[in-house]
Amino acid sequence: MHPEALAHLIVDNRAEGLFRVHRRVFTDSHLLELEHERIFAQCWLYVGHESEVPQPGDFLTRCVAGRPLLVVRGTDGVLRVFCNTCTHRGAQVCREPRGNARSFQCFYHAWTFNTQGELIGVPGEDAYSPAFDRRQLALASPARTDVYRGFIFVSFNPEVMDLVDYLAGARDYLDLICDQAEAGMEIVPGTQAYSMRANWKLLVENSIDGYHARSTHRRYFDYLLRTGVDPRLVQRRRGGISKNLGNGHAVIQSEPPWGRPIARWTPAFGEAKRAALEAVRRRLEARFGAERAYLMTQTSRNLLIFPNLIINDIMAITVRTFYPTAVDYTVINAWALAPREESPEDRALRLSNFPHFPGPRGLCHS
Ligand code: FES
Repeated sequence: MHPEALAHLIVDNRAEGLFRVHRRVFTDSHLLELEHERIFAQCWLYVGHESEVPQPGDFLTRCVAGRPLLVVRGTDGVLRVFCNTCTHRGAQVCREPRGNARSFQCFYHAWTFNTQGELIGVPGEDAYSPAFDRRQLALASPARTDVYRGFIFVSFNPEVMDLVDYLAGARDYLDLICDQAEAGMEIVPGTQAYSMRANWKLLVENSIDGYHARSTHRRYFDYLLRTGVDPRLVQRRRGGISKNLGNGHAVIQSEPPWGRPIARWTPAFGEAKRAALEAVRRRLEARFGAERAYLMTQTSRNLLIFPNLIINDIMAITVRTFYPTAVDYTVINAWALAPREESPEDRALRLSNFPHFPGPRGLCHS
């Protein structure tokens, strides 16, 4: 597509207060091809969290931008990400979503790789010519892999800037979320996997759109009122403040009417929880100062790490990624992030939020 034609798809005329996006941006499959080439093949992309592979031999498989990947904690304790593609004829080496293994055997001709990706078994190897070299047939890896505060990212672009630079202003918000835990954050086992018949950018935009909250989520606000939330908190609920964090990242932040397991009490939590949450808030104040502790405990945020990682730090914390499989179809995966030190009771309280709001069956519609 000609660059000039692309430029006409967005009108951003600040002098006249005009911002418009042509609907073709959400429907043209040629644009999706360009997005694969210029966005998903270039940026850092979230794969998983270190807490999902804590022990040697732990692995998980994920599809990232259409490419099957294998995340493994090697028996040497080192975390690695491989292309989950056999170096023989390209079959998928590991077909399980997660587990623990000492090696991975491809189902097709039974080539076997260890947890460091090395080829360690080839049936009938003596039939190959002397040029056959196992060392050249180890599992490949994405061009770059890096980890920030437990979040594992890959990039298929060898020239991509370093991850910490890429995160730009989003890094501070990621720190704000991770620092809420006193013993580190972990992904709660289990995935919410679903899809939508819509263009992937609509979910990006929706995540930073506070304008829809009062109308689209009316039923949830009604539910909050029934739990005893002060009606003034619901009334003064506004969309929140959005902020450009650089490199395409953004955040929307607000003081919400709902409670937060860290550490904003609400009547639905019960009187018995009040003192414990207050103690958490005081500890965070002592560690990070009043201003940052206020942000951690009393405000909510949706953080977008461009292009497709959304962390909803709201009444619970959801880590969500999504990929287009067609211009009008998006596959979504979401996980709950929580402090490791949380008691079983608090964990249950946190997870109960998912059917109420952040999960795909939440009480979100008006
Ligand atoms: S494709 Fe994997 S062993 Fe042949």
